[in-house]
Amino acid sequence: MKFDQPATINPIDRARVVGQPIDRIDGPAKVCGTAPYAYERHDAAPNAAYGWMVGSAIAKGTINSIDTRAAEAAPGVLAVVTHANAGDLGKGRMNTATLLGGPSIEHHDQALALVVAETLEQARDAAKLVVIDYATGEGRFDLAAAMRGATAPKDVQGSPADTRTGDFDGAFAKAAVKIDQRYTTPDHSHAMMEPHATTAAWTGDKLTLWSSNQMIAWSVGEIARTLKIKPDNVQVIAPYVGGGFGAKLFVRADALLAALGARAAGRPVKVALARAQIPNNTTHRPATIQRIRLGAKKDGTIEAIGHEVWSGDLPGGGVEVAALQTRQLYAGKHRMTKHRLAVLDLPEGNAMRAPGEAVGLLALEVAMDELAEACDVDPVELRIKNDVQYDPEVGPSKPFSSRKLVECLREGATRFGWDKRNPKPGQVRDGQYLVGMGVASAFRGNIVMKSGARVAIDGKGRITVSSDMTDIGTGSYTIIAQTAAEMLGVEASDITVRLGDSSFPASAGSGGQWGANSATAGVYAACMAMRSQLAQKAGLNAEDALFEDGMIKAAGKAIPLREAAGRDGLSVEDSISFGDLTDRYAQATFGAHFAEVGVDVYTGEVRVRRMGGAFAAGRILNPKTARSQVIGAMTMGVGAALMEELVVDTRFGYFVNHDMAEYHVPVHADIPEQDVLFIDELDDKSSPMKAKGVGELGLCGAGAAIANAIYNATGVRLRDYPLTLNKVI
Ligand code: MOS
Repeated sequence: MKFDQPATINPIDRARVVGQPIDRIDGPAKVCGTAPYAYERHDAAPNAAYGWMVGSAIAKGTINSIDTRAAEAAPGVLAVVTHANAGDLGKGRMNTATLLGGPSIEHHDQALALVVAETLEQARDAAKLVVIDYATGEGRFDLAAAMRGATAPKDVQGSPADTRTGDFDGAFAKAAVKIDQRYTTPDHSHAMMEPHATTAAWTGDKLTLWSSNQMIAWSVGEIARTLKIKPDNVQVIAPYVGGGFGAKLFVRADALLAALGARAAGRPVKVALARAQIPNNTTHRPATIQRIRLGAKKDGTIEAIGHEVWSGDLPGGGVEVAALQTRQLYAGKHRMTKHRLAVLDLPEGNAMRAPGEAVGLLALEVAMDELAEACDVDPVELRIKNDVQYDPEVGPSKPFSSRKLVECLREGATRFGWDKRNPKPGQVRDGQYLVGMGVASAFRGNIVMKSGARVAIDGKGRITVSSDMTDIGTGSYTIIAQTAAEMLGVEASDITVRLGDSSFPASAGSGGQWGANSATAGVYAACMAMRSQLAQKAGLNAEDALFEDGMIKAAGKAIPLREAAGRDGLSVEDSISFGDLTDRYAQATFGAHFAEVGVDVYTGEVRVRRMGGAFAAGRILNPKTARSQVIGAMTMGVGAALMEELVVDTRFGYFVNHDMAEYHVPVHADIPEQDVLFIDELDDKSSPMKAKGVGELGLCGAGAAIANAIYNATGVRLRDYPLTLNKVI
C-alpha cells in the first residue's frame, strides 16, 4: 500500500481498541524473567561458549605485534580471534570505525581481539594475557581546539548543512533586541539497561544471531557486508531488547565478534560488552558547541534567528544535527543555520536519544528564555507570539501537517500553575531552597519509514501478526496487537504478535521515533489486504463490510473470521510505503515542558521538584505506553540538564567515566512528580493511523525547561551543560 494522499475515514477511526490504555502484553514475561534476551538463549543455542572482548589501550596508532600464545594456552580457552586470523572482512555502511580493529587503530577500546573460552571467567582471565605492542600515533581529542578546522559536512540527514533565508546578518545587526550566546553540551552515553550482547551460531554457512538490536533488516545487511556472506545466510533475532536509545541502531562489535568467535570455536558463542567497555568501544552522542543569535522587536517578535553548531567525529563520520529544529520551530523572516564537523579521534559519534533536537533545544530554548527576559515578555507568551503554521524557511506553500504548539503551551501552563511563577529571579524561597519555574517548547521531527507485516488466521481462527519490528521497551507488541484487533474487529488479547526476527517481513524498526506510527501503518496495510481477502472468500464486499465481534458483517450476513478464512487458514502480507506527503507538508511533533526546581542556597545543588508537559503527536495509539515513553524521555532531559557527561581525557583520547558509577543518570528519587497531558490531534498526512512519533518528543526541550527554572530560582544563567552545582555556586 502506498500512502501518498491524506488519509480519509478508515477502520482505525472507530478507536475501539486503538487509543485504549491497554497494559503491555509483554509485561508479565519481562517482570517474571521469562522473556529471553540476546545473552540468555540457552534454549536456542545450548552449549554456547563465552567471548570476552579485548579493546585497544590507545586511541590512535598501529599494532606492532599481538601475541596471543599465553591466552590460547590458558585454561578453558577455545579460540582467540584477531584481525590476523579473522579472515577477509568487509566494512559495514553504517559504522564509521571498523568493528574489529588492527593493525591500524581508530579509537580507544576499539575491539582488537576476542577470547573464547568454556566459561565467562576463563575468557575474561585469558583476555588479560593477550599482549599487544602498540605504536602510538598523534590524535585530536579536543573539540574546542579542533573547531577552528571544522568543515561543512556534505549534508545533514539528506538536507543541506547550512540554510539561509532573507538577510540574516542585516536583520540581526538592526534588531532592537539581540541575544548572542554560546552554549555547550558534552559527550553523552546512551546508558541503556541491557548492554550490547549477541549469541551467535553457525549451521554450515548459515549464521544465526540473537542480538540486542533496534533495526533487524539493517543488521542483516551490515553483518552480510562485513562477513562477505549472502544476506540470505544471515538471520537476526531480537524479540526483546532492553533499551537501545540509538546505541543499537547499528551492528556493533559484540555481533561481529560473536559470529567470528563461533566460527573459530566451532560452536555457539555469546558476547556481551562489559558496561565499562561500552562508552569507548561503541558510539556516543557527540559534544556540541552552539552559537545562537536572536534578533527581535521590542515586543519579542523575532526578526532574525541564527543557529550554528560545531561537533566532532572520526574521519568520515557525521555531525550532531542540533540546528534542525531551529529551521522550523519559530517564525522570523531572516534566518540561518549552520553545521560544522571537526575531525576527532575519540570513539565514534552517532545517533543517541533524539539526535539533534535533544541538544539543539538545550541551547535554543535557553536563548528564548533570555530573549523573553530582555523583552520583558512572559516566556510562554513569547513562544506563542512566534508560532508559525508553515515551514518558515519555505513559506505558506509548505504548511505543517498538524501543529499544536500553542495549545500545548497554553494547556500545559494552566495545568502546571504557571501563573504562580514570579517572573523576577531569585525571589521565591522554601527553607534552604530557592525555587523557580521554567518553560521550553518541545519539537521533534516526524519521520516515516516503509514498513511491512504479515497477518495470518489459522484453521482455528487464531490471528498472528508478524514483522521484524522490535520492541525496545516501548510497547510495540501492544500497539501492534491493538491495530490488528481494531482492523479485524476482535480484541487485542485475540492477537498473537511476533516481532524481531529477520525471517518475518521487514518493518520500520525502532529509531528516530518513527517506529510506532510506521510499524502500525504497515500492520494496517497488511490488515486491509486481509480484510479484502476474507470478504472475497465470504462472498462479500470488503468496502461495505463491518468487522466486529470476530465476524465480517455485510449484506445482512455475519460470518465468523474463522469460517471466512477457511480450514487451511489465510496468510497475507503487505507493507506501507510513503509518497511525497513529507515534502508537501512539514511534519513534526510538538509539546511544552514545564519544570519547577529548588536550588540549595548553601551547596548549589539542584533538585527537580516537579515536571509537567503537554504534547501533540497525532493520534495517541495507547495513552499508557505513550505516557511511559514521554516520562522516560523527560527523565533523560533531567539527565542532560543536570548529570550526564562523558569526561574526555584530552591527553589520551578516551572517556574517563565509562561506567554507571561515574556516568550519572537520574533515578526515581531525582524526580518526585511528572505529569503528562496529550493534546487531541489526528494527523491525516502522517499515515493512515493518523499518529506521529512520540517516543523522543518528551526529551526534546525538557532539559532547557530545567535550565530556565534554575535561572528563575537563582538569577544565575548557565549555558554549559550539565548544570552541576559547581557551576551554580
Ligand atoms: Mo534513536 S537515537 O534514533 O534510536
